[in-house]
Amino acid sequence: MNAPIGIFDSGYGGLTILEKIRKRLPEYDYVYLGDNARTPYGNRSFEIVYEFTLQAVKWLFKQNCPLIIIACNTASAKALRTIQQKDLPQLDPQRRVLGVIRPTVENIGQITHTRHIGILGTSGTVSSGSYPIEIKKLYPDFIVESEACPMWVPLVENNEYDKPGADYFVQQHINNILAKDPLIDTIVPACTHYPLLKKKIYAFLPKSIKLVSQGKLVAKSLENYLHRHPEMETRCSKNAACRFYTTESELKFATMASLFFKEKKVVAERINIEDAK
Ligand code: DGL
Repeated sequence: MNAPIGIFDSGYGGLTILEKIRKRLPEYDYVYLGDNARTPYGNRSFEIVYEFTLQAVKWLFKQNCPLIIIACNTASAKALRTIQQKDLPQLDPQRRVLGVIRPTVENIGQITHTRHIGILGTSGTVSSGSYPIEIKKLYPDFIVESEACPMWVPLVENNEYDKPGADYFVQQHINNILAKDPLIDTIVPACTHYPLLKKKIYAFLPKSIKLVSQGKLVAKSLENYLHRHPEMETRCSKNAACRFYTTESELKFATMASLFFKEKKVVAERINIEDAK
């Protein structure tokens, strides 16, 4: 039986992470799950994000995934720790659930010179304080400012991300975060949707400021993780296969997925994860 690596996101955004992971680690099998019926997670409470994410984890375990990457920043911020500490020991202590915050943070130290970091994310990610907390653990002297960009996900979801109307919202939040700390030299677009806004973000960002590619960092960390954990690496099957599942319409997923996932035509299957035990 195949043992794919599970990639979970609240919707399409995690495809930007999957794309980079598959580019770096093409030999493995992957199962992508987007909870499109209940997206966005960005403004939902801790309890609900945890409940939905746990359902996704249980469903992916049923697909025989030995390892799951929670590609959604909001779910990584609000649900991952509880799942790792409380649920995983009961569900299956031999499997692993990892997120995107730690891999992103781990690599920041090699990118910044000023040690002043800006985090752009959903309201949920920003209000959780997860990024500043994780950054301070590794780099206690770093200064971190955060800015919630609640309009950015809807701009992408509604295919307005490259239209002139998006400029106002992108510029507003870039200006806000740089006003909070003019010494910022590294910005983390801490949301899986934001890579689609990359061109606009760069247009309003001074040339000296670097924009982190979260997908690339997560892919690099995953490669490193598999290298350090041969017991997990050997459990992951390697047929270079990739399957896509959504909790919403299959057709809608296939159409929208092409925006996020340039690799090939995506064929998805609609599933229900609410009763995953
Ligand atoms: N995938 C989410 C994230 O990375 C953004 C979309 C949402 O709000 O659900 O934070």
